[in-house]
Amino acid sequence: PAPNDYDLNTPIDSSSGGMRQGLASYGDAHFSLFLRKVFIKAMGYSEESLSRPIIGIVNTYSSFNPCHANVPQLIEAVKRGVHLAGGLAIDFPTISIAESFSSPTSMYLRNLMSMDTEEMIRAQPCDSVVLIGGCDKTTPAQLMGGISANKPALSLVTGPMMPGSHKGERIGACTDCRNNWAKFRAGAIDIEEISGINEELAPTAGTCGVMGTASTMACILVGLGMMPFWGATAPAVSSARLRIAEETGSLAVKMHNLKLKPQTVLTRKSFLNAITVLQAIGGSTNAVVHLMAIIGRHPDVAGTITLETFDEIGRKTPLLVDLKPSGDNYMTDFHNSGGMRALLEELRPLLHLDALTIKGNTLGEELDSTPLKKIPRNIPTMVLRPLHDPLYERSSLVVLKGNLAPNGCVMKASASKNRALLNHTGRAVVFAGSADMANRIDDPNLEVEPDSVLILQNIGPIGNPGMPEAGMIPIPRKLAAKGVQDMLRISDGRMSGTAGGTIVLHVSPEATDPSSVLGIVRTGDLVKCDLDQRLIHVDVSEEEIKRRQEEKRKTLEAESENNKSADVWIARKKLRGYRGLFMRSVQQAHSGADFDFLTAAGPTDT
Ligand code: FES
Ligand code: MG
Repeated sequence: PAPNDYDLNTPIDSSSGGMRQGLASYGDAHFSLFLRKVFIKAMGYSEESLSRPIIGIVNTYSSFNPCHANVPQLIEAVKRGVHLAGGLAIDFPTISIAESFSSPTSMYLRNLMSMDTEEMIRAQPCDSVVLIGGCDKTTPAQLMGGISANKPALSLVTGPMMPGSHKGERIGACTDCRNNWAKFRAGAIDIEEISGINEELAPTAGTCGVMGTASTMACILVGLGMMPFWGATAPAVSSARLRIAEETGSLAVKMHNLKLKPQTVLTRKSFLNAITVLQAIGGSTNAVVHLMAIIGRHPDVAGTITLETFDEIGRKTPLLVDLKPSGDNYMTDFHNSGGMRALLEELRPLLHLDALTIKGNTLGEELDSTPLKKIPRNIPTMVLRPLHDPLYERSSLVVLKGNLAPNGCVMKASASKNRALLNHTGRAVVFAGSADMANRIDDPNLEVEPDSVLILQNIGPIGNPGMPEAGMIPIPRKLAAKGVQDMLRISDGRMSGTAGGTIVLHVSPEATDPSSVLGIVRTGDLVKCDLDQRLIHVDVSEEEIKRRQEEKRKTLEAESENNKSADVWIARKKLRGYRGLFMRSVQQAHSGADFDFLTAAGPTDT
C-alpha cells in the first residue's frame, strides 16, 4: 500500500495517476481516495493491486455484433499482458456498433460512440487505455474519443474473418454479398443458390474479410503508429490475434510509463503516412471521412490536412495490395503475404519514417528492429505487389471538385468496373432520395441509357442522418439484364468499403443544404466527370442555378407552412434528443461529419 494515502498532512498529487486521478469529486481529496478504495475493494482488489498502474480496457462486446464476437477472449489476453507487465487491468463497457444492426446507419452513432469513449476514459481512473474495436465505425470513434481525452491509449482490433466457399470458389463479406446479389437481381442465379451463398459469406467471427472500411481502418491504425504491425491482419479466430492482444496489454503499461499520449504520438506526419497507406491498400472511401474527423480532434494537426492532401498523396502512391473490392483476394491472404510489416517496407521511400509509434520509437526504428516474415514459396496467393509493379499505378482514391461539389467529393477510381466512365459526360437521371430511387429504379419505363449518369440526392449527413451507404445506386434492372455492370453514379452519401463501381460520393455541400448545386440538378442536365482534371460539373449556368435554388426555397417554405415539415434543414431545429443534436451539430463530409462542438477548432474544454 502507498504509505501516505490517508495521511492528512501529505498533499495528494492527483497527477500520479491510477486511483488518485480526478480526486476532487468529494471536495476532500483524502476522503475521495478513501471512499474510492472502499468501493473498488468490493470488486475484490487488494491494496497491492490498486497500487499498480491501472490499464482500462474498452469492452465493445455485444451479441448484436458478430464483428466483435471474440472481444471476451481478447480482453482475457490483454489482461494477461497488462499483468505480466506489472499493471492492473480493468475492463469497462462502451456502446458497440455493428454495421448491420445500427439503424438508421452505424455512421449516425459514430460520434455518439466517440463521446461515450472520451467521457468514460476521462471519468474513470485509468493510467492508460486499450481501445478494442473492429467493425467499421468503432475504431474511428474510439480514436476520435481517445485523442480528445488524451490519456495514453492504443488500439486493438478484433481482426478479419476467414473467407467461406461456394461451389469451389472462396467468397467473403461483403464484396461477394454485393456481386452475388447483383447476379441474383439480373436473374443469373436462382433463389436456392443465393440462399446457399448466404450461409457462407460470413463463416467466422471477425470483421469483413476484404479491404472494406474495417480492414482499411485497421491498416491505417498501423500506419498511424497506434497499433503493432501484425495487429491489422491476423485473423480474428487465430492464436496470433490473441498473442497480439497480450502484447497490446503490455504496451499499454509501457505507454503509461513513458507518459505517451495520443496527441504526442500522432503528428501531421503520422497522418500523411496513414493517407499513404490508405492509397496503397486501395482502402475504403469511408476512411477519408473518418480520417478527417480524427484529424479534426487533434489541436496541432486540424486544419493542416484537407481533401486535397489525399489527392496529392494519391498521385504519388501506387496501389500495391490486391484485395477485393479493387482486386481479387482476402485479408487472410494479405496476412500470409507479410501483412502491414511487408507493405510498409515497400512504402519506405514514401513514408515519414521519423513519425512516432506507441512504443515511443520512430516508425523507421520500428521497421529496422522488426524482421520481415519469411514468406513460404508455396503460399497460394501472394497479394502484395512491389513498388515497381503495382496493381494500379496511382490515385486509387481521388478527390474531385467543380460546381457540383464546391467543397469536394471522393471516388475510388481503382474500383471502377468500366474505366471509360472515369472521363465521361452523360444525361442525369435524378432521384430525390432513397425512397424515390427504390420506387423507380427498376421501373421498366424509367428513361435511362447505359451512358446516363445516375444521381441520388438527399442522402447526406443531415438530409438522411448518418449518411447511409446508399451511394452505390443499383444498375436499373432492365440495363443489368442487358449486361450493363457499371454506370457513373453520384450522391452526397457514402458507399460501403466493400463495394465497387464508378461511384462519386460525399458531395459537399449535401443536397439538403440550400446552397447546394447537387440539390437542384434535374433529369436531363448534362453532367461531366473528368478524372484527369479532377472535375465534377453540371452544365447549368450560374443564373439558372440561382433561379432553381430560389424556386426550391419557396416550394419548401410553402410546404413547411402547410405543416408538412418537408424541409429537414428547417425541421431539425425542433427535433428532440440525439437526433436533434446530430442534425444541428453534424458537419459536412469534407470535414469528417463530426459534431462541430467536439472538434479541436470548436469550443474549448474549460
Ligand atoms: Fe462489421 Fe463489416 S460488418 S466489419
Ligand atoms: Mg462496411
